[in-house]
Formats: sequence, structure tokens, C-alpha cells
Amino acid sequence: MTLSEPHRPKGSPMREEKVLAQVRVPGKVILMGEHAVVYGQPALAIPVFGVEARAEVVPFPAGQPGEVVLDAPQVELRNVPVSSLPATHPLRVAVAQALGAAGPPPFPLKVRVEATIPMAAGLGSSAAVSVALIRALTRALGKDLPPEVISALAYEVEKIHHGTPSGVDNTTVAFARPGYFRKGHPPEPLEVGGTFVLLIGDTGVPASTKDTVARVREGWLRDKTGYEARFRAIGTLVEQGRRALAQGSAQELGRLMDENHELLRSLGVSHPVLERVVFAAREAGAWGAKLSGGGGGGNIIALVPPEKAAGIRQALQRAGAVRVWTTTLRPQVEK
Ligand code: PMV
Repeated sequence: MTLSEPHRPKGSPMREEKVLAQVRVPGKVILMGEHAVVYGQPALAIPVFGVEARAEVVPFPAGQPGEVVLDAPQVELRNVPVSSLPATHPLRVAVAQALGAAGPPPFPLKVRVEATIPMAAGLGSSAAVSVALIRALTRALGKDLPPEVISALAYEVEKIHHGTPSGVDNTTVAFARPGYFRKGHPPEPLEVGGTFVLLIGDTGVPASTKDTVARVREGWLRDKTGYEARFRAIGTLVEQGRRALAQGSAQELGRLMDENHELLRSLGVSHPVLERVVFAAREAGAWGAKLSGGGGGGNIIALVPPEKAAGIRQALQRAGAVRVWTTTLRPQVEK
């Protein structure tokens, strides 16, 4: 299935299928500040345009009046009425959020959803799918909602996935621009004063953000003073990182990322494979490297001199990264 070409059985006569809405939403990666952001500290997050979630809405004449059916082959859903899914199914909740904001469909609709964002890899796949579905469905129903509203609707779905999410994922993918984020505040656009080449390496070690967030919480409950001091230290690094980004100072940002990694390690959310890949990135000449997202597996992010990117990519793979993406921040964000 591709979203650009409406699905047509082979040999069937050409039939025009009216596409009511079609959207693409990028993935995201956290540059600095994860975990501490759950405790009110700021974080920096950036969209990753090399991966995306896509949603498309078309009429579904075979459906019941007012019905929405889902076509999401990657999660084994083919033309399934949304009402037949469990009440807490994330896609059902996303549809309910969209219909709550835009009203019931005047005729049956089909929503096709697909993503190239790997799941549970810290690239915001769940948030991007929710944002894509909600934006496409509300648009098809005649409501072009601003990103903060789409983000708030998607946050309700994120709660099912993560329990107590900070909201950084849905915010970053809904706005699709680098952002400075604090829980409960509108995101602020990040000023980017130079070119920053970032490699994202997936360790392939499955990681549950819910579990690592719970682990940090247990630590915090045992030692509030010690953990809060670390959260504040991370917050300070994030503020400095924001300035380094604005000044175009890659070396300084890399140093701050290294320090951020040490603090995350002290929170107990690293993993031997993450350590190996972070170390390999630095050895191969990265300006800085750290785990990114929930940790316990998942991703690392490395800031690299552009001319060394190819070599560092190979070093990451040799150290155990199963996939590597590149994303470049420029004064004007590259799409
Ligand atoms: O694992 P990710 O990329 O979805 O990021 C989780 C970030 C945390 O700060 C650990 C949790 C949160 O809700 O912000």
C-alpha cells in the first residue's frame, strides 16, 4: 500500500477514489533533557524527516452511516470498523479524539495509516501515527486545526502508551520543528545558528520508556535530594545547549551532550550496548554522544563533524547499531 496511489485491485476498471486528506508527519529525537523533563526541567527535541507516519482519508461507500474504518496493515488491521476495536486501542482513541474535535462524519470514511518509523525505538512512532491520523481525519471533516490543538489531542493517546508522558513527542512531531520544551508550557522554537549533523543509532535493544520512567521514579522516591540535583543539572545543560545551538557552536553542544549522558547514566537508564555505541561514536571523532529518549536500549544520538559522518556511521554499526539515520539542523530546518 502506498498513500500516493490509491489502492486498486489489479485488473479492475479505473475507479476514481477521492482522497479527502493526506498527511505526513516526521519522527522525532530528543537532543537533550530526557527524564528530567518529566520532573519539570526543559528538553530539546528535533524532528527526524528521514522517517515518517502517513495517514490518508477516503470515502468508504461500503460502510455503515457515520462509520470510520481503519486500514493499517502494519498492525494487522484491514478495513476494520473502529467501533470494533477495544475501547483503549490507541487508534480507536485517536479517532475518537479527532471526531470529538471535528464532529461525526457525514458519510462512512476509511483512514489508511502507515509508518516508516520503527516502533519502540525512541523515534516517536506512536505520537507521529496519532498526529497523522488526527490531522488527516479532522482535515477531511473540514477542520484545519493548529499544531497545538492536534498535539493536545494526540497527548490523550500518548497517555495510553506511556502513562505519564511529558508531551515532548506529540509536541515535536505536531509542530515538526526543533523545539525547547517544558511540561505544561507551549513549545518555543529553537534558534539554530549553524549546521549540525546528527547521527541517530538504534541499538536494536528493545526498550520500554514506561519501564525506564518508572525506574527513575523509584530512584527519585528513594533519594529525592540526589535525583532532583541531577534533574536540575540536566536542566542547566539543556539551557547551555540551547545557547550553543543558537551560536552555531557544535563543539560546545557536543561537550554538553557528553555531560548529559553521564547524568543519564547516573539515573540508571543506560545499557551496556548504549555505552558501547556512545563510546564508539566519541572514539571515531564525534563532538559528543549520548543516549536519547527513554534509554535502557533504544537510541543514541551523536553530533558529528560533517566530514567524519560516514566513518562515524560505520563505527556505530561495528559497535552494534542496527540502523543509523542522519538528520541535519540548519539555520532553516532542512526537510
Ligand atoms: O523514549 P522516547 O523517545 O519516547 O522519550 C521518552 C522521554 C522521557 O523523557 C524519558 C519520557 C517523557 O515522557 O518525556
